[in-house]
Amino acid sequence: MAPADQTRKAASRDSGSATSNDTASRLLVWYDAHHRELPWRVSPRDHARGVQPDPYRIWLSEVMLQQTTVEAVKSYFRAFVEKWPDVEALAAAPTEDVMKAWAGLGYYSRARNLKACADLVAARGGRFPDTEAALRDLPGIGAYTSAAITAIAFDRPAAVVDGNVERVISRLFSIATPLSEAKPEIRARVERMVPPTRPGDFAQAMMDLGATICTPRRPRCMLCPLREDCSAVVSGDPEHFPVRLPKADKPQRRGAAFVAVRDDGAILLRKRPEKGLLGGMTEVPTTGWTARADGATTPAAAPFPGDWRRAGTITHVFTHFALELDVFHAHIKGDAPEGHFWSPAGEISGEALPTVMKKAIEAAIPGATKKPSLHSAKRLHD
Ligand code: ADE
Repeated sequence: MAPADQTRKAASRDSGSATSNDTASRLLVWYDAHHRELPWRVSPRDHARGVQPDPYRIWLSEVMLQQTTVEAVKSYFRAFVEKWPDVEALAAAPTEDVMKAWAGLGYYSRARNLKACADLVAARGGRFPDTEAALRDLPGIGAYTSAAITAIAFDRPAAVVDGNVERVISRLFSIATPLSEAKPEIRARVERMVPPTRPGDFAQAMMDLGATICTPRRPRCMLCPLREDCSAVVSGDPEHFPVRLPKADKPQRRGAAFVAVRDDGAILLRKRPEKGLLGGMTEVPTTGWTARADGATTPAAAPFPGDWRRAGTITHVFTHFALELDVFHAHIKGDAPEGHFWSPAGEISGEALPTVMKKAIEAAIPGATKKPSLHSAKRLHD
């Protein structure tokens, strides 16, 4: 197509709902051929044959996918549905076990809300509500997740807008407003585009397009089913969209972590308070995490005496700050101090340890947080 024709076509892209429907149709044709196979997904072929998605699996996957990549979620999703195949099973599980199974996925308030939501849905008969408003009343379900469940699990029209969709829409319409302010416009554009039939497949198709074709860098526009609708392609610089304001640097915090080991390889752990960052998860003892440059990171800050030796420094980036922890390692004998417990070497991999704590333990004792078959108590002392 000549550039002028392209421009005309792109300029007319939002002149009426028929155009939006054409875009949705093209996207669905592409999705039928190029969708990703995902463990929670009913393929478009099966969907057309009448296979219905299980709302429990869609809810579980969408909560896991909040802030986490598809690749990271797959193995957790499989492990959860194997252990807890339905909402009643999850509701019957001890919270502690759910936190352990979630360890490593991050954003741990999601796990607590997941359990609270399962408890509520199970107590109400085990059926998830099928409207955005009713879903939003459940713990851990916000605007995005309620729309995703409504569309994907119940095939009802809903505007599902995640980061992938924001990028696709910003490019399709060359939205010049910074993304942080453009969200209402993007949502309105998606609302107009959602087709009355197959809204669930449409939502997933938008996500797949953003994840596989309309990628943040080097989008594969030549393969895009929407390239003729896309004004960013016409501009020649699709990567320019979405427009973002410069990011502020994250504040830095520092502290020290203390990995105490018993002769049999057990590691001393404690539980974090239920509220706040990493709430209810397990940790090695640490100092407070301070923004002060001279934060206490010496063995003198250890919560109990020992032959503390430096085992390096680990870093971890949280949403609102970056953390640097000096790790100290010691062999300790005797009972666990109050509020602490010894986790036997063979059980450490199953503890509810967030990634930052696994990093600290690994710095002191390489291999200690891996599954028992990969290490032994003896190796811990070699
Ligand atoms: N990201 C969030 N939800 C998703 C889904 N259902 N499929 C693919 N990617 C997703």
